[in-house]
Amino acid sequence: MWGKRDDMIVHEEEPFNAEPRPAALAGQPLTPTEAFYSRNHGPSPDLDPATWRLRIDGLVDRELVLSLCELQQRFALRTEVVTLGCAGNRRAELLAVRPIPGQVPWGPATISTAAWTGVSLADVLAEAGPGAGAAHVAFTAPDVSPSVVPPQPYGGSISLPKACSGEVLLAWGMNGAPLPRIHGGPVRVVVPGYIGARSVKWVQRISVQAQPSENYFQAEDYRLLPPDAEPGPGRGISLGPLAMTSGILCPDDDDAGARLPAGPTDVIGYAFAAEGRTIVRVDVSLDGGGTWNQAAVDDPPSPWAWQLWHTTLDLPVGPAEITARAWDDTGATQPEFPASLWNPAGYDNNSWARVRVDVG
Ligand code: MTE
Repeated sequence: MWGKRDDMIVHEEEPFNAEPRPAALAGQPLTPTEAFYSRNHGPSPDLDPATWRLRIDGLVDRELVLSLCELQQRFALRTEVVTLGCAGNRRAELLAVRPIPGQVPWGPATISTAAWTGVSLADVLAEAGPGAGAAHVAFTAPDVSPSVVPPQPYGGSISLPKACSGEVLLAWGMNGAPLPRIHGGPVRVVVPGYIGARSVKWVQRISVQAQPSENYFQAEDYRLLPPDAEPGPGRGISLGPLAMTSGILCPDDDDAGARLPAGPTDVIGYAFAAEGRTIVRVDVSLDGGGTWNQAAVDDPPSPWAWQLWHTTLDLPVGPAEITARAWDDTGATQPEFPASLWNPAGYDNNSWARVRVDVG
């Protein structure tokens, strides 16, 4: 389905919500498109690249309407390796703490890395000329989520400084091929370092404005609420930069039923730190954090990408839990338990990564 691997974990067929089995991501700095997770709130629009137009309006000196050819020819081409991670990545562990009705039970593979080709949003905004009072840049797409009342198209916004930072892309290419429809083709926004929700797919309108977007997915969803709070417009913390996180990709939970042989076992995972931070250490434990080994951590394939790590553990016979935690270059690390992070919509679970395996 949608050109994805046959063994994807499909949480929903319509809208399509799927993540790869963790092992499909192991050891690959760039995720093959067929394994890249897909997160959709509504049916994916079928836009014709020949008639697609991008409108730039709001607090600008010059409104622009650009065709795909104009976007490709008028601005400098850029390719950036960027990790996209959903704010709901690893929600399943929060669900085990307390139910989260109506939300997709994502595992640890709702995060992937691709080479995105397009132009810098900053260059397009410079041509439009943000005017007095401009502080936010809002994106709108045509897909309508059936679960949002009243119905409205998908949207979101980022601050003007982030939009003008140069790293935010309007992308029409993914891993050297035209951006597939399910990933937002013909053109999507790619906001490095931010939760995936801000990387609006099928973007058709970019508005420069004084306030953040009032779209449901910015004003009400993708916000971090206290455990007993009710969601509502403007409540909670609006999520931007992705929380530092890590995940174990191999062995994965699938191996739990399969029984691993005792002895030296390769353990492979990812870690990610946003906004200019780097992962400098990953600890791996077989005794719940009583003692730790340090894994080998790869350099990131770009300043905006995850880092892969690997180590070999000597697994004893019996049930075992492999635990991992990452540290960044500011000395920050991950919280221990998902229970301390539980929130009503199940976002930002960046607690220690854990996988349970049976060894024998
Ligand atoms: N853009 C639109 N128009 N509609 C959506 O439902 N989902 C967002 C974001 N952009 C979404 C969207 C979310 S929550 C995520 S995590 C990423 O797209 C997922 O991108 P992908 O499906 O290409 O992996």
